[in-house]
Amino acid sequence: MTRDNFEIRDQDALGRIGELEVPRAGVTVETPALLPVINPHVRTVEPSRLESEFGAEILITNSYIFYGSDDYRDEALDRGLHDVLDFDGAIMTDSGSFQLAEYGEIDVTTPEILQFQHDVGSDIGTPVDIPTPPDVPREQAEEELATTQERLEVAEGVDVGDMLVNAPVQGSTYTDLREEAGRHAEATDLDVFPVGAVVPLMNDYRYAEMVDVVAAAKRGLGADAPVHLFGAGHPMMFALAVAMGCDLFDSAAYALYARDDRYLTVRGTEQMDDLDYFPCSCPVCAEHTPAELRRLDDREREELLAEHNLHVTFREMRTVKQALRSGNLLELVETRARAHPAMLDGYRALTAHADQLEREDSVSKGAFFYLSGESARRPEVVRHRERLDRLNPEGRVLLTEGGPSDRYDESWRVVAPFGPFPRHLSETYPLTAEVPERMDPEGYRSAAKGVARLAESNPETEFTLAHHDWPESALALVPEDVDVVDLSADPE
Ligand code: GUN
Ligand code: ZN
Repeated sequence: MTRDNFEIRDQDALGRIGELEVPRAGVTVETPALLPVINPHVRTVEPSRLESEFGAEILITNSYIFYGSDDYRDEALDRGLHDVLDFDGAIMTDSGSFQLAEYGEIDVTTPEILQFQHDVGSDIGTPVDIPTPPDVPREQAEEELATTQERLEVAEGVDVGDMLVNAPVQGSTYTDLREEAGRHAEATDLDVFPVGAVVPLMNDYRYAEMVDVVAAAKRGLGADAPVHLFGAGHPMMFALAVAMGCDLFDSAAYALYARDDRYLTVRGTEQMDDLDYFPCSCPVCAEHTPAELRRLDDREREELLAEHNLHVTFREMRTVKQALRSGNLLELVETRARAHPAMLDGYRALTAHADQLEREDSVSKGAFFYLSGESARRPEVVRHRERLDRLNPEGRVLLTEGGPSDRYDESWRVVAPFGPFPRHLSETYPLTAEVPERMDPEGYRSAAKGVARLAESNPETEFTLAHHDWPESALALVPEDVDVVDLSADPE
């Protein structure tokens, strides 16, 4: 199904730059987009400043907070959210599902809260989905998902004019439920698809499971659906989540962390008390030292910390978008994965979905940088290796890390991590890759698997592999009927 409110402009891995048309706001939001969360009780940074100083095109607030308070409700109904919040861009509203998850019940139904969201002028509303946490018994996940799905169907029947409506995808940590939830949500006529209840996974650094949950939801939703990662506001995981195909992110973290004196970076979170230097040049960090910030009163410090947190959050989103545009998003993910072992697990989980990545990843990009053993699992490498069974060299064939030799019928190059390829492909992506001179064993093993695939699909051909000092673990993967010559031991 092609969606008329979401267009994909550019793609790298499963990540994309897209345009989400939000008709009620009269704007088109470029994705990946970050939605700062506005708590109407707190308003740590004023929404008008989010637009002018940080470039926010869209924000999210909780309609249930307005609905549940007489004062807020009447003001919002009289003046509309855009006026109350003083924000011209698009406004998404949540439904109270978070309160439902925290306190067990809320006193509003999906038709009531959607109608209310419509009446206060929300541009994208949300039904009352049930955010089933990780690790619950399967029966609970199934029952709650069934309830969420009924409510999405109810939401389809509510007349909300040109307000877009979220169709949250639940299913706890059961990937088959997430996939089926994705399929069901996509088949509704709702518009935006948040993957829900992942906050507990992220708070516990369970990034690999987050990746598996998102990958499953995406399999059900298909590639065209705009996907929101509900509650994901820490900049350290943006590159990973965008590479998984998430398009919208909301950040309450900037304000919540500031209240606890926590300072966000793309490598993790720092306590203000532990900082002697600010590793950042945003206006806050350029004008203050950590010691100066600590001397301020609580309210002022919280505001400035929230501003820094927002700056680093928006900056990382721009960094991710530019990497995507340049075709090196996976290099950025791999770099960010170095910040924490759990992020490395997240990246490894991403490359474990090689099939899914391979289907979507564009065939040609800028330059492939081999940065670590994980690079050997990238979709470009997998794709090259898998296609080796389509090639049919004949006679006596040399596969070599050295120069060509006319003692053979054909003389192909071998480059780790890709494996063998005909010389005339040397200038095509990804074989133009920059690889380190000191390749790691994973890279050689990947190349050896390529040799094996080529040899096994051409049993009549006589192969000789000429390598430079490959490790035993790689040579063990080369089939026995391939002659092996070590160029370092035996220079020609
Ligand atoms: N905010 C964070 N997670 C969720 C979720 O699963 N559902 C809703 N409606 N809001 C959220
Ligand atoms: Zn800063």
